[in-house]
Amino acid sequence: MTFWKDKVAVVTGGSAGLGRVLGERLAAAGARVVLAARSVAELERAAGDITQRGQTAIGVPTDVTVDREVNALMERAVAEFGTIDLLVNSAGRSDRGLALETTPERFQELLDLNFLATVRCCRAAGPHLIRSGGHLVNIGSLASKTAARFLGAYPASKFPVAAYSQQLRLELGPQGVSVLLVCPGPIARDDAGRRYDKEAANLPGAASRPGAGVKLKGIPPAQLAERILRASEQGRAELIVPAKARLLFAIAQLSPPLGDWLLKRQTAS
Ligand SMILES: NC(=O)c1ccc[n+]([C@@H]2O[C@H](COP(=O)([O-])OP(=O)(O)OC[C@H]3O[C@@H](n4cnc5c(N)ncnc54)[C@H](OP(=O)(O)O)[C@@H]3O)[C@@H](O)[C@H]2O)c1
Repeated sequence: MTFWKDKVAVVTGGSAGLGRVLGERLAAAGARVVLAARSVAELERAAGDITQRGQTAIGVPTDVTVDREVNALMERAVAEFGTIDLLVNSAGRSDRGLALETTPERFQELLDLNFLATVRCCRAAGPHLIRSGGHLVNIGSLASKTAARFLGAYPASKFPVAAYSQQLRLELGPQGVSVLLVCPGPIARDDAGRRYDKEAANLPGAASRPGAGVKLKGIPPAQLAERILRASEQGRAELIVPAKARLLFAIAQLSPPLGDWLLKRQTAS
């Protein structure tokens, strides 16, 4: 029997990308999965693929930037399956742009989806997670720890996810809830390198590449999903992929100019 068997998992951004793969892995491990995203058609496709295999999933159309919809999502999960054992905050998006050309409105938009939606979902699911002694997984990014060039409002919207996760870990840990922050580099996908062509049109070539040109191979999403579930099961605090990035973060804390120099060496111009 797997650790996740019969557990109830809510996955935001569960209709595509990493969230969808996490939903599939959880369902394959015997969890009852609640997928959340805005597009009804994509949600039906993702949940349908799971139920066709005889596993358990429902899709709940939700815009995670809207309080009322987030509350309704958690209420539906509990009404359907009785509890919430795992919340994965995966809904999010990246950005491209120069810092000075990125408007306050754009920062607000990215903060709302990449950070405040995580706050909303944690607050709505929190009491259930405390009751179940459950697991919380916040999907950050390497950009939760370091702000590379050309990433527009993305790093500023992902840094607070790291701060919030640490505070949650300290406050919820003693109440039996494990809190995992995940900081992945670029995730492999068919459209990697084309997704941000529009935003990156007037920027150096590196900007349209995954991670704005970071010299890292894309992580296969299935492999990343397995590592995330194992890390959450083990009650780990952070999963940084690749792990060697932690060295860059440590050096940058000790010496920002040295950190900048190393970061530039690791990213194409
Ligand atoms: N891709 C990468 O290389 C990479 C690297 C590091 C970290 N990450 C992080 O990993 C997470 C997943 O990224 P991804 O690239 O795999 O995602 P993706 O394929 O772009 O899918 C995003 C998911 O979030 C949903 N979503 C977007 N806005 C939403 C909203 N307002 N309310 C509810 N759902 C919403 C989308 O569905 P709808 O549009 O239908 O709502 C979709 O299900 C993100 O947090 C991202 O920052 C990604």
